[in-house]
Amino acid sequence: MDFALGPSEKAIQEAAREFARRELVSGAMRRDEEASFPWPELRRLWDAGYLGFTIPERWGGAGADLLGHTLALVEIAKADAALAVLMEVHNTLHAAAVLRWGGEDLKDEVLPRLARDRLGAFALTEPQAGSDAAAIETRAVQEGDLWRLTGQKAFITGAGEADYYVVFAQTDPARGHRGITAFEVPKDAPGLSFGPPQAKMGIRAAHTGAMFLDGVPVPDAWRLGAPGEGFRVALALLDQGRVGIAAQALGIAEAALEKAVEYAGRRVQFGRPIGHFQGIRWRLADLATEVEAARWLVYRAAWLLGQPGRHTADVSKAKLFASQVAVKAALEAIQIHGGYGYMREYGVERLLRDAKITEIYEGTSEIHRLVVADELLGRLAAGPGAK
Ligand code: CAA
Repeated sequence: MDFALGPSEKAIQEAAREFARRELVSGAMRRDEEASFPWPELRRLWDAGYLGFTIPERWGGAGADLLGHTLALVEIAKADAALAVLMEVHNTLHAAAVLRWGGEDLKDEVLPRLARDRLGAFALTEPQAGSDAAAIETRAVQEGDLWRLTGQKAFITGAGEADYYVVFAQTDPARGHRGITAFEVPKDAPGLSFGPPQAKMGIRAAHTGAMFLDGVPVPDAWRLGAPGEGFRVALALLDQGRVGIAAQALGIAEAALEKAVEYAGRRVQFGRPIGHFQGIRWRLADLATEVEAARWLVYRAAWLLGQPGRHTADVSKAKLFASQVAVKAALEAIQIHGGYGYMREYGVERLLRDAKITEIYEGTSEIHRLVVADELLGRLAAGPGAK
């Protein structure tokens, strides 16, 4: 057993840390205030190889594995969690879908673009189908070599900005989740439109919105996986995506801890830096312990996904725990900063607003508890039909 990162992993971590400090930290507060979609910073991420990080080199990507991606993502999230989610969705939910389930012609056409300058998104959720993702109603009907997609998607990260969307639709409703199929859909497809960006609490630069499909034609060659395989495609992608969200949460938690430690060392009250007082010291010690525990759960989940078998419950444990730690770390950082922590200027209240979504998207904490409990107890323990 080896708990140390190898030389190449350390190099990825250090390079991403340096890149994030140099290119991303200073504008994060402004991007949050303006809630403007961060195309200039995304271009920098493409130039540095982080968008397309896991795409093999033959299609212009960096060919990194999921652990390398996780290490880089933590550093990006530490600087700006909004950019981190765009990177995560692009790499682990979109590029990975094309890579694993796309036909050869589709891969040759789309993967080099995703590695160069085109953004990918993921469209599963619908207004009536959030946690119960199998309940989607968007329909795809086959007409010769084409499919026509009709329906509505909700809470889509990058809606209207991304260039390509992995869209899940029912192709055989009688078969329930076994009737769902995945498709690659370009932004300019006829019949595709988008709602405006929704005003939201955190990760404000990463726009979220609705997507409307009105008979959108998709060639059969742009189908991802077999007809009826779409739900398993979605959940397998979410195994990776959730490690990404756990990494995002870890980055936020690390940022909060660093800010709290730094402030505790310099803020003087009652004649001493507040870091001398036990009330602050114990808080920081507990937090550092939880951040460390989250780190190893996240690294382990990323490593496990490179091993044979399904590791969904281990991924759920990592995402569940890291997201809780992120929220707690942000709250503690605010408390340690006192009144200053409540003010935008100090940048810790943003961490709390950004952290909260990690307990919600890519499976709420409740869904992750359900996944872990299913592994421990099986479904029968809760009675027939129980989730
Ligand atoms: N990989 C591959 N296949 C999997 C799988 C996995 N990790 N997990 C389950 N499956 C398969 C099962 O084997 C089963 O296959 P068969 O039909 O062949 O038997 C099938 O999928 C259905 O499995 P379940 O019976 O477990 O499915 P369920 O309907 O009970 O749902 C759930 C389970 C855990 C509740 C699931 O619906 C879920 O994860 N919900 C949360 C949805 C979610 O995470 N949405 C995220 C939206 S995207 C997003 O948030 C992105 C963003 O904005 C940043």
